[in-house]
Amino acid sequence: MIDISIRELKNKTELPYNLLFLADDSKDAVEDYINRGTCYGAYIGQTIVGVYVLLKTRPFTVELVNIAVKKEYQNKGIGKKMVLDAINRAKIGNFKVLDVGTGNCGIHQLALYQKCGFRITHVDRDFFKRHFDEKIIENGIECLDMIRMRIEL
Ligand code: COA
Repeated sequence: MIDISIRELKNKTELPYNLLFLADDSKDAVEDYINRGTCYGAYIGQTIVGVYVLLKTRPFTVELVNIAVKKEYQNKGIGKKMVLDAINRAKIGNFKVLDVGTGNCGIHQLALYQKCGFRITHVDRDFFKRHFDEKIIENGIECLDMIRMRIEL
């Protein structure tokens, strides 16, 4: 098992933009998230290998956005550790609900979130068609709908 430490990234200059863009192609969306949310970095020693952002959306509700693990470190359990860390921080912060959204084509992401306790609440149909000009295909599946998931804390 890889040993990682996760800490808040308080200084904008230490934000790993290449990683943040791995989870979201939209520069504007990433800028908006990091300005309104709190960023956390996962480290192996001094090397940053993962990132996620927690964004307050409504009273007692926070959303996990922009989670990403460096390509060469994926599939080693780091993503799951970061999701569990996000759940824990949301609980400690006295939030009642943690939301997350992912594309219908994101098989890995859908597995990861459900393994961490998230349940599907609804489907935002044609979300990706509405917001992106280019077709997104992952795992041979066209990304059309946003699967909205939630965990009650
Ligand atoms: N079926 C069943 N389980 C699957 C699966 C599949 N096809 N693919 C992955 N999983 C499971 C793994 O088995 C693991 O569960 P386990 O520990 O209980 O066995 C779980 O998913 C998480 O895997 P993990 O290794 O922790 O994930 P990761 O470190 O690769 O991080 C992402 C996951 C999504 C953050 C990473 O792949 C990534 O950065 N992707 C690009 C950016 C992105 O898409 N971000 C999400 C935006 S919504």
